[in-house]
Amino acid sequence: MINEKCIMIIFGGTGDLAHRKLVPAIYNMHLSGQLPESFALLGTGRKQKSHKQYRHELAVSAKKYSSQSFKEKQWETLAGNIYYHDIDLQDNTGYQRLKETLKALSPGTNSEGNILYYLALAPQLFSPVSTNLKRNKLNASPYGWRRLLIEKPFGYNLASARELNTVITEAFSEENIYRIDHYLGKEMLQNILVLRFVNCIFEPLWNNNYIDNIQITASETDGIGTRGRYYDLSGAMRDMVQSHLFQMLALTAIEPPAQSDPHSVHMEKLNLLKTIQLWPDSPIEEKIVFGQYNNFRAEQGVSPDSKTETFSALKLTIDNDRWRGVPVYLRTGKNLGEKIAKIVIQFKVPSNIDSHILPGSSLADRSDLPNLLTLKVQPREGVVFQFNIKKPATMGEIVPVEMDFCQPCAFLINTPEAYERLLTDAIMGDKTRFTGWNEIECAWSIVDNIYQEYNKAGAYLHQYEPGSNGPQAAIDMLSRDNRRWWE
Ligand SMILES: NC(=O)c1ccc[n+]([C@@H]2O[C@H](COP(=O)([O-])OP(=O)(O)OC[C@H]3O[C@@H](n4cnc5c(N)ncnc54)[C@H](OP(=O)(O)O)[C@@H]3O)[C@@H](O)[C@H]2O)c1
Repeated sequence: MINEKCIMIIFGGTGDLAHRKLVPAIYNMHLSGQLPESFALLGTGRKQKSHKQYRHELAVSAKKYSSQSFKEKQWETLAGNIYYHDIDLQDNTGYQRLKETLKALSPGTNSEGNILYYLALAPQLFSPVSTNLKRNKLNASPYGWRRLLIEKPFGYNLASARELNTVITEAFSEENIYRIDHYLGKEMLQNILVLRFVNCIFEPLWNNNYIDNIQITASETDGIGTRGRYYDLSGAMRDMVQSHLFQMLALTAIEPPAQSDPHSVHMEKLNLLKTIQLWPDSPIEEKIVFGQYNNFRAEQGVSPDSKTETFSALKLTIDNDRWRGVPVYLRTGKNLGEKIAKIVIQFKVPSNIDSHILPGSSLADRSDLPNLLTLKVQPREGVVFQFNIKKPATMGEIVPVEMDFCQPCAFLINTPEAYERLLTDAIMGDKTRFTGWNEIECAWSIVDNIYQEYNKAGAYLHQYEPGSNGPQAAIDMLSRDNRRWWE
């Protein structure tokens, strides 16, 4: 239990994110004793409703979406500290009433203690809300911290991200701004650095002498649901690559941070992001594949002539001594055949492999024989290592086999979900698992460049069938290099 007094305000407390992720996470934190001793949750929306009605709506969501079973008694203790406040956040005049509500939540004291503002809102509200909090002196207090949690997307491109950053840094100091990339709260992402740097068998091989290529996949089986308007303006690159995929790549490829403090980790990620480029000296269609699933244009909120990509595959290079020459393949998309996020490290096949074949034996196709280290980020977290053995009862046929570490099977505990960890970190003031502004800025400049090159070349938008692995062109991208996606 955290020994601090804290009010958490969810601006957008009636929305999808609050119902499906934030409130279930807060309920789980309550069950596991992770909430501060004195805690209140204030959800906001535009409609009027009573605290009782709001508590009831959240109870339904906690029941439906929490990974823990619903315990009526424990919920009631939490629900007693949940409140609702109606406010139109665009309208500056409503914030004084909000101030009074906050005071009322701390009876008998002259301060509200610490306040965590969670912006679970459409991105166009991030700036006005930050500005209005400042105008109404809700952005800082001598009596406790005021922290701002911002959901992605942080901007639409480099220019808009910089504009947004200017506005929010006028209202909150950098140390009080927490930019969320919820993938950083996922267990396996935190595990990458441990796997790399706390096992001496991997780090010596973690370079272009031994690694053939890196593949990162984040595929979703869902389409765009009710978020057509947002997604049509965004697309796979802005929605996934700029944030989650670049963060996965950064952690996979960074140099060892000098220390484990947030600054050292952020600096190393930034240094790595600065070296990412599209693969040089090859035609655009060999390094960028954008796709759109059939019928996307008929989705609610999507323009009938939309050119937004719902799938993106990229071939990149990391231009530093460790990685030069190792292709990095990224792919992500909606409405695909499998829901998975994973990182595959493909090692080189030894050049003298034939001399180790026993007389009279056969070699499986050598393209089947690279060692593969797969980090499974979701849905089932784990690590799989593929290596080669002599097939039993043969003269010496060499076949690949797997060692499979399944994290939830090995540790029979409920590992906290990403939002639980991130909310706990924000309350504790630990920014390690949040994205630094410089990283966001750098990631946007890479994405802007990719769009520029794609548009300049007038490259093609491929169609693909929902439920497939995406466009054939993404498969061809690797077969042209005598490689394949490891499914
Ligand atoms: N949903 C997810 O799984 C998810 C995942 C990652 C990131 N995000 C990001 O999280 C943010 C929220 O997404 P969401 O899916 O929760 O959106 P949503 O379901 O549309 O919810 C939007 C929320 O904003 C409130 N709102 C809208 N205009 C307002 C105004 N003028 N004044 C006060 N409140 C206002 C709405 O309240 P009322 O309508 O009740 O007034 C509602 O609570 C977005 O930036 C999204 O990109 C969402």
